[in-house]
Amino acid sequence: MTDPDIHKGLAGVVVDTTTISSVNPQTNSLLYRGYPVQELAAHCSFEEVAYLLWHGELPTADELVAFEALERSLRTLDDRTRRAIDDVPVTAHPMDALRTAVSQLGGLDTTLQQPDGILDPALNDGRAVYLLAQLPSIVAYIQRRGRGLEPVEPRDDLDFSRNFLWMTFGELPDDVVVDAFRVSLVLYAEHSFNASTFTARVIASTLSDVYSAVTGAIGALKGPLHGGANEAVMHAFAEIGSADNAETWLDTALAEKRKIMGFGHRVYKNGDSRVPTMRSALERLVEHYDRADMLALYDALENAMAARKNIKPNLDYPSGPAYSLMGFDTETFTPLFAAARITGWTAHIFEQYAANSLIRPLSQYTGPEERHLER
Ligand code: ACO
Repeated sequence: MTDPDIHKGLAGVVVDTTTISSVNPQTNSLLYRGYPVQELAAHCSFEEVAYLLWHGELPTADELVAFEALERSLRTLDDRTRRAIDDVPVTAHPMDALRTAVSQLGGLDTTLQQPDGILDPALNDGRAVYLLAQLPSIVAYIQRRGRGLEPVEPRDDLDFSRNFLWMTFGELPDDVVVDAFRVSLVLYAEHSFNASTFTARVIASTLSDVYSAVTGAIGALKGPLHGGANEAVMHAFAEIGSADNAETWLDTALAEKRKIMGFGHRVYKNGDSRVPTMRSALERLVEHYDRADMLALYDALENAMAARKNIKPNLDYPSGPAYSLMGFDTETFTPLFAAARITGWTAHIFEQYAANSLIRPLSQYTGPEERHLER
């Protein structure tokens, strides 16, 4: 029998307070600073949501203009960052290249060496905007490099979502695509003490710097039980092929005790609050690209999973096919998640700094009894 004092996976354990977001599985709701994420997805730019997460309030018109101008001014990649990415084998996973690039940005930030340079709130505000502006440039660079294409320079006449798509594809898609992309970024921006955010907070709790915390968070996000699931959904779709094969595929996968990626959640047991909004965006993309087959497969697997296991999709389930329709490489999906979650990660890192206590849990030792060397 499991010791009731041991909370494996920290399941059900409340480790701290936060004012950034609240996840309520009873009402299937997710609030960013009190606002339902569905309302933010319907009415706000990603930049406004980033500002909200960091500052606790939506920006005024003047604040938004200044914030957008700052973000747009920080998009260009340093040659040294390009070289750091180029040093990663092109066959490596884009999350590995992204992790390397963010770690390198930390090495380039000489203000970390100033007195109080790691914790200074003004410096950290600037670093958060810098990371927000740099991540799309890094992610787009990595996808284009993987395709053997020259990088596309950022444009300061485009908002965050449009510029991201511009740098990735070298052209601007229709508004329906831009909007679905914006919605995905808003939905991915923040989700309380998920594994990658908690990782970032653990690192911040040692009073390490924001780049180190974000680098660790990227490592945590990469795994298929967390952010890597959006990529894994598309691998499953590729295996299944078409809707009429979904039930057979699922039965085989479950018989092999495989986890079905994009389903289940540690907190939501009755459905992920973000899924309906992302599914609507996916529907609009399906119509735009005339890909009813994609939605048919989506529905077939969801229905089969409900019938077999009564487990509902999480956000990665609709976002995977949505990103695929937009034209992103499957391996770029999790870096997209990171480029959105940088907002939540940094908000949590700064909240951790502001009321820090080293995160250091205990373990129950179950190894050999004390013993001694026989020499
Ligand atoms: N496929 C098959 N079975 C599942 C799945 C799934 N996706 N999710 C849960 N289950 C089953 C488990 O096998 C387990 O069954 P058992 O009690 O018979 O052993 C039961 O449901 C409980 O599952 P746990 O893994 O214990 O639940 P936990 O809260 O630890 O896991 C998790 C949550 C890791 C997300 C899990 O549902 C999973 O692995 N899902 C697939 C990966 C995924 O989609 N991750 C994305 C998360 S959301 C996000 O990052 C945006």
